[in-house]
Amino acid sequence: MTEPVLWLDDGSPHSPRFNDRYRSRTGGLAQALTVFVNACGLPQRWRGRDEFTVLETGFGLGLNFLATWAVWETDAQRCARLNFVSVEAYPVAAADIVRNALAPGAPGDADPQLQARLQALAQELARAWQGLRPGVQHLEFAEGRVRLTLAVGAVQPMLSLLDCVADAVYLDGFSPSLNPDMWSLATLQAVARHCRAGTTLVSYSVALAVRESLTQLGFSVRKCPGLPPKRHRMAALL
Ligand SMILES: C[S@@+](CC[C@H](N)C(=O)[O-])C[C@H]1O[C@@H](n2cnc3c(N)ncnc32)[C@H](O)[C@@H]1O
Repeated sequence: MTEPVLWLDDGSPHSPRFNDRYRSRTGGLAQALTVFVNACGLPQRWRGRDEFTVLETGFGLGLNFLATWAVWETDAQRCARLNFVSVEAYPVAAADIVRNALAPGAPGDADPQLQARLQALAQELARAWQGLRPGVQHLEFAEGRVRLTLAVGAVQPMLSLLDCVADAVYLDGFSPSLNPDMWSLATLQAVARHCRAGTTLVSYSVALAVRESLTQLGFSVRKCPGLPPKRHRMAALL
């Protein structure tokens, strides 16, 4: 059974379970790039590395994964292997992943060539997106150079099952007020256990409680200008 996604009249995907949108109404790819990929210093940070690992809370429609993969693929100086590890309790249908990737961006949204690659990669992901079970599973792309580890289940137990050290973390639960489990101190502690000195952690949310928890866990946290209509985004460094 896959998680139902409701497509609103404005074209944005909505979760009936959490009563929130999967992404901002405007420019999904622009948001993924500005708030997550580029905010973690990518593509520059993976250059010259054998491997780079991104850890995400909330795989959702896979847009952050696809954007990261598309940027990796088009970077001539990319690292040899990209590991993307993501936790998701309620996987959606492959058709929703593709529909989201096909959604037109806002005017002036990211590079049309990157958007086209992302759409092609969404089709690849959709072909591999079958038979997902609770627990940790691996999907491989680009002849094994892009590895998606999907931990299907509730965020805290899944984070404790995972064995990875993240170079970058994307925190992308639904809004903290509607989805508190994804942002609790216990969840952020479980995330921090996968981090090392120098790990970057980014999010669209700048909720005070989240910033305070991260500070308590040793991150230096900054509130940065966001992508409209959001005023702010968060960037942190352990
Ligand atoms: C905003 S969406 C993620 C969007 C996604 N990163 C993307 O690029 O498309 C938040 C996701 O968190 C998942 N989620 C919410 N609560 C969860 C929990 N307690 N454990 C695991 N996943 C959860 C939801 O099912 C949803 O898919």
